[in-house]
Amino acid sequence: MKIHLQQGDITKLKVDALVNAANNTLLGGGGVDGAIHQAAGPELLSACKEIIDKIGSCATGEAVITKGFQLDARYVIHTVGPIWHGGDKREPNLLASCYWKSLELAAYKELSSIAFPNISTGIYQFPKELAAEVSIDTVSEWIKAEPDTSLKEIYFICYDEENFQIYEEKLKERHLYDL
Ligand code: APR
Repeated sequence: MKIHLQQGDITKLKVDALVNAANNTLLGGGGVDGAIHQAAGPELLSACKEIIDKIGSCATGEAVITKGFQLDARYVIHTVGPIWHGGDKREPNLLASCYWKSLELAAYKELSSIAFPNISTGIYQFPKELAAEVSIDTVSEWIKAEPDTSLKEIYFICYDEENFQIYEEKLKERHLYDL
């Protein structure tokens, strides 16, 4: 298993699955969600609408999977991060669930690579330091719990410099990343 840290636009990655920081409607939005829908083309929205017709809405902390359409990524895993309300509304647990359920879906599809954006740290205003701790710790726990997984490469994709520096520091502290 390799953990990678990169700064840039997640839509450019050629991996088996990109994770999207979506909302409960799965109908697109701004931020990384808007960028992924724009790059994947209109078929992505149609696929999301089909899912919503079946399930009504995607609950916070849950994840669903579609094809990647015009992306280089084969699949998009749409997960709904929590909106930050101060920290006493189970926000860290819900954020951890986003990472865990996305990894479960990728493993269920027997994928070998997955790329995560910094879920909830934009429009949803989750504090970046805490979000990085939750995501790195959840991914580490999942790897330990699933030693025989098909997943071989996990990418943390930071769009902004601040998140990149936070991740670099935390991955180094945990000996998960060598520069
Ligand atoms: N590639 C990688 N990361 C990106 C990109 C991109 N192209 N664009 C933005 N980001 C980063 C942001 O810098 C932020 O760190 O993604 C992180 C998550 O930010 P948002 O996209 O704002 O997502 P989030 O905070 O989870 O809010 C979700 O925003 O777009 C809407 O529909 C979405 O309502 C939902 C809400």
